[in-house]
Amino acid sequence: MQSASYSPGLEGVIAAETRISFLDTEQEEIVVRGYNLLELIRTVGYVDVVGLLLDEQLPDAQRRQQLERELCTAEVPQRVYEILALLPPAMHAMDRLRTAVSALAGFDPNANSADPEEERRKAPRLIGQIAQIVANLTRIAGGQPPIPFDPQRSFAENFLHTIVAREVSAAEVRAFDQALIAYSEHELPNSTFAARVVASTLADAYGALTAAVASLKGPLHGGANEAVMYMLLEAGSADALERLIREKLARKERIMGFGHRVYMRRMDPRAQLLKETLRELVAAKGTGAELLEMCERGEAVMHAEKGLYPNLDYYAAPVYYLLDIPIELYTPIFFAARSAGLLAHIVEQHAQNRLYRPRVVYTGPRGLRVGA
Ligand code: CMC
Repeated sequence: MQSASYSPGLEGVIAAETRISFLDTEQEEIVVRGYNLLELIRTVGYVDVVGLLLDEQLPDAQRRQQLERELCTAEVPQRVYEILALLPPAMHAMDRLRTAVSALAGFDPNANSADPEEERRKAPRLIGQIAQIVANLTRIAGGQPPIPFDPQRSFAENFLHTIVAREVSAAEVRAFDQALIAYSEHELPNSTFAARVVASTLADAYGALTAAVASLKGPLHGGANEAVMYMLLEAGSADALERLIREKLARKERIMGFGHRVYMRRMDPRAQLLKETLRELVAAKGTGAELLEMCERGEAVMHAEKGLYPNLDYYAAPVYYLLDIPIELYTPIFFAARSAGLLAHIVEQHAQNRLYRPRVVYTGPRGLRVGA
């Protein structure tokens, strides 16, 4: 075993061959099935990207309509909602979601199948079910009945409308839809790797997705978006945020929403785009200018102090806040959006499977004897 091949955190290690996406840091482009992710965010909707991820091509009008219908009419078994209602409301929303995703398997007669075509076929239903569960998580924890999606509304409108329980404007739906696309797929982050590792044992999509929810909860990964919002609220103003960041850095604490394994000394292109989305939302709603100013100040301080740039979570958090989304749902929404990319990876893993089974550099003792 060559210890020279060891890379802590698997930094720089190539762990999969994929046709789904690639972070091209030289060209500063996130490639998704051949398209630039930023162009997709600016020009198409989340449902198109779901089609692109699953079918390997952008959907035509008929396929798009079919997908939107499947996403909006996917039924969540009543008993999954009953299981959720039994959980302590104080349990973290990602833990409740993890339980629900796992429970969904019990209501799919083909749950155990690791056949890629079967998984591709049921993927829209799963994405729709997960979105409806996420949209109803807070309501169920509060003892209220879940609201199913309305087939008369678009997927993004349904998702946002169900969460905030009020009519939503076209500008709000567009901002939310853009965030869903931004989160839909991003090569091989920890959660996608976790899903592919589980899938590589020929375990089914439910197991792989459940592992991905567990991974995504962590504050170094998906959990960063809610942590960003708590930090912005704790600060309350641009001056106070600058002070808070400087204090945290002096204590050697990490500032959530900054840094990225792949983009460490560059701006995450998705963050740049979500910053535009935030600006547009502030203009459309006529509110939130202070929040935008605060975020820009934080960005400037971190760049000056650490040479670090914001990642997607830094600008997604204030967008969600202005949309009145409860903070506990920020990371579950990340998972709901990413379920499309995750399912594409699970399908791909099962279509070209090889079991993941790496080795270690052993640093423990040897030669110990029982009773000696
Ligand atoms: N705040 C302060 N310092 C940081 C930060 C940060 N957010 N991120 C990295 N650093 C410093 C770190 O202290 C280290 O400095 P030094 O070399 O002086 O010890 C250096 O940068 C390298 O950090 P690392 O931990 O070795 O790098 P990594 O690739 O393991 O970490 C990361 C990547 C995302 C875990 C890290 O940047 C971080 O903890 N960020 C905050 C959490 C966050 O925002 N996560 C969301 C990531 S993007 C959305 C997603 O895909 O999940």
